[in-house]
Amino acid sequence: MARKILIAGNWKMNKTGAEVAQLIKDMKANCGGCCCAVADKVEVLVCPPFTTLSAVIAEAAGTPLEVGAQNIHWEDNGAFTGEISGSMLKETGVTHVIIGHSERRQYFGETDETVNKRLKAALKNGLTAIVCIGETLQERQLGVTEAIIERQVRIALSGITAEQMKNVVLAYEPVWAIGTGEVATNEQAQAVHAFVRALLGKLYACPCVAENTRILYGGSMKPGNAAGLLAQPDIDGGLIGGAALKAADFLAIIKAAM
Ligand code: PGA
Repeated sequence: MARKILIAGNWKMNKTGAEVAQLIKDMKANCGGCCCAVADKVEVLVCPPFTTLSAVIAEAAGTPLEVGAQNIHWEDNGAFTGEISGSMLKETGVTHVIIGHSERRQYFGETDETVNKRLKAALKNGLTAIVCIGETLQERQLGVTEAIIERQVRIALSGITAEQMKNVVLAYEPVWAIGTGEVATNEQAQAVHAFVRALLGKLYACPCVAENTRILYGGSMKPGNAAGLLAQPDIDGGLIGGAALKAADFLAIIKAAM
């Protein structure tokens, strides 16, 4: 089974309701009739802040655009001020959720263990999870990239069955490439993606998991470098920050993926 390319926009803490509506309108107006073709070849997702999820879902109705959240709590409800649960997300109509983004690990104390708990909550609530992994610049310079990635993947996927893996996407995002303009080379990215796929082969008896799990690249993906990255055999899409905030750039990446 060929893995379908997934182009996912992570809007982070950007854009008001009026701005997201405008962005979706711009995408619809400028996609040049590509919307129908997109649905066949590429899956396209945007992940806005919680406050604009409903507006984006309404604006995206009737298009192939899917909508996801940027975080999820592991409990269904309770005394967790400021958190949002899987059942609450599900109620908004989102289909996906990003888990363990490096900004959450860096600024909000996210750990491999909480990533695993959030992943279980996402799957329990019928959401497709995009689980982020990636090494820091220091870790890369120390030559421990693979060890870090292996630890992140093993703990994140602990207790997740091969069947559940159908709803898990991994995103390799080298921390040193996020928002810095410094993109991993095609070869650097491919090497880590191949390593992750081989690791999935070790973790799951069924080879279907390694074969079918999509592994996205994230970190300064732009119209100019997307085609090269997406041409790599183990890169199955992109998780895009900055370039997803401009309709023209995001559409150019979608077209590169097609
Ligand atoms: P960037 O962000 O494309 O702006 O580097 C990617 C991400 O953080 O998901």
